[in-house]
This record gives sequence, C-alpha cells and structure tokens, in this order.
Amino acid sequence: MSHATAIKKDKIFFHDLHTPTASMANDVHSGLSGKQKSLPPKYFYDKKGSELFDAITKLPEYYVTRTEIELLKQYVPEMAELLGINSYLLELGSGSSIKIRLLLEALRPEIYVPIDISREHLIASSQRLIQDYPWLTIHAAYLDYSHPWAVPDFGPGRYNAFFPGSSIGNFDPANAIQLLKQISQLVGRDGGLLIGVDLKKDVGILEAAYNDSQGVTADFNINLLTHINDGLDADFVPENFSHKAIYNEDKGRVEMHLECNINHSVRIESNLYPFQTGETIHTESSYKYSIDEFHQIAAEANFAPVEVWTDADELFSVHYLKVG
Ligand code: AVI
Repeated sequence: MSHATAIKKDKIFFHDLHTPTASMANDVHSGLSGKQKSLPPKYFYDKKGSELFDAITKLPEYYVTRTEIELLKQYVPEMAELLGINSYLLELGSGSSIKIRLLLEALRPEIYVPIDISREHLIASSQRLIQDYPWLTIHAAYLDYSHPWAVPDFGPGRYNAFFPGSSIGNFDPANAIQLLKQISQLVGRDGGLLIGVDLKKDVGILEAAYNDSQGVTADFNINLLTHINDGLDADFVPENFSHKAIYNEDKGRVEMHLECNINHSVRIESNLYPFQTGETIHTESSYKYSIDEFHQIAAEANFAPVEVWTDADELFSVHYLKVG
C-alpha cells in the first residue's frame, strides 16, 4: 500500500498519487497549434468553473443529473444486491460526493475510495461524509484519472467502481475504452462497475441541455479562457468569443466550441496565436450512446453487461457491468 496520510484518526487516509504528466502550458500550446484549435475540458474546473458546473446540474434543460439521481434513488436496493455489501467501493471523479450518499447506506462498503483531481474537494467532502457516516473508512486518492493511474490494493475482497454523471462521455471512444480497461484491471476478476451513461435522443433535447436559456453553460465554457489567463501569462479577451454547442450526428456527440467574433491574436507566454472571425476552439465533446453501443465499448474493456436501468423517457442509463 502506498504511503497515506491519516486525516481523521483511522477514518480518513489521504493518498497523494498525483503525478502531473502534462502542464497547462503544454496542453494549451498543443491544443492551439492544430488546424482545429482545441482546449482540454479538464481546465473548465477551477473554483468558478466547478461552481458553474454545480449550477448547470440544477438547470431545467440539463436533465442528466436529476435523471441519474432519480434512477439511483429508485433502484438502489437492486443495485446493492448486485454489487454486494461490504465490498471495496471506488468512485471516479467524486467531486462533492452527492450521488455516493445514495449508495453508501445500502452498500455499507468496507472501504470507500473517492478519486478526484481536486485536493480541496476530496478532503472537504471526505470530512463531511465521515460526519454523516461514522462507520465508514475512507481512502481518498488524489490523482488525475485521465492519465494512467492506480490506487492502493486493499487486499482480497470484492471491488466495485462507481463512475456517475456520464463523465465517460467526455472521452473519445478510444480513450473511453482505455479508461474502462484500466478500471476493469483495477477491480479485478470478481469486480464490477456501476456507470452512468447519457443516451442518444432527440437533437432538440440534447442541444437545449448545452445551450440553456440562462446562459450558465455559456459562462462555464467562456470561463475556460479566464482560467487559462489566470494559470498562464495569457491575454484572452473573453468578450471576443461566444459559446456554441451543437450535436454532431455523425460522431454521436454534443460538441462545445468557443467561436471567435473578431480577427485578433492572443499572446500566451512567448507565443502569439492568430484567431480569425468565425473560427472555433473545440472545448468539449460529450458522447451519447445507445445501450447497445455502450455494451460494445464496455466489451472491448472486458466488461460484460449485468443490468441496465433507464428512466421512462429513456433519457439516461445506469449500467452495472462485471469483469469477464
Ligand atoms: C461532466 N460532464 C459529464 C458534463 C457533460 O454533460 O458532458 C459537462 C458539461 N458540459 C456542459 N454541460 C455539462
């Protein structure tokens, strides 16, 4: 087991497993040097961006979060039966740990392992959870799961991973398979994965979810530029860009872009990047899968379907998959 720091005696252990492989400067430079400019969506989530994302999850048009929560509430007894109680439970991108609360009581895991790239979020939410679930032991893993990663081995037992929110949709299919393979190796032979996956649906519903009437998603998208200005010596003028989100039917994904309103250049450290009116920076893809399509992706990562739950309108799906 890796070196861990105990935060609350014998209850919360903090594992610093973060190995920065790419810097913001390298990511931004390579993203803005291609023909189609792009920026990695992980840079949405500075403090303001995380708050804006929280606000997105409560928007009337953004059905994703509330539909998944309803599915978890409704089917948690069945889920617990399949995952088994007293297992080791890993959660990817635990954030503020709201959804896990619905599972903890039913699953009563031996150990809960929240995994997140935000150190502050991890510590604060672990402390809140221990207050509400004093029987729980938490091993919080601070790492970026979009790069190769591993968490401590807690010894023999049943391992399950929980990956809610359709965050898998923010990976291109090839990278999604890589990540799922990594999860399948980690949970091992008897292990399973409970994962939320957004479904393909009417284009109008999809585009409204990413173009909300209050403009919160637009602020979230544009905040990426402010984060880069703060993180690097850069002079993006946010007003020079507009939010754009469209469903790309061929690729089966909602794409978010920042569209340039005026010919100009942006200086980032010692580099100058020219922008033409109408050109875009691709900031996020959010892939949508039919149940069969997702089963195919999962199969490539050695996961077999066990159960899938959907809402009556077939907006969202929660899958339970097992290794093998
Ligand atoms: C985090 N992720 C699953 C969200 C999504 O729907 O792709 C991020 C998001 N982008 C715009 N709205 C929400």
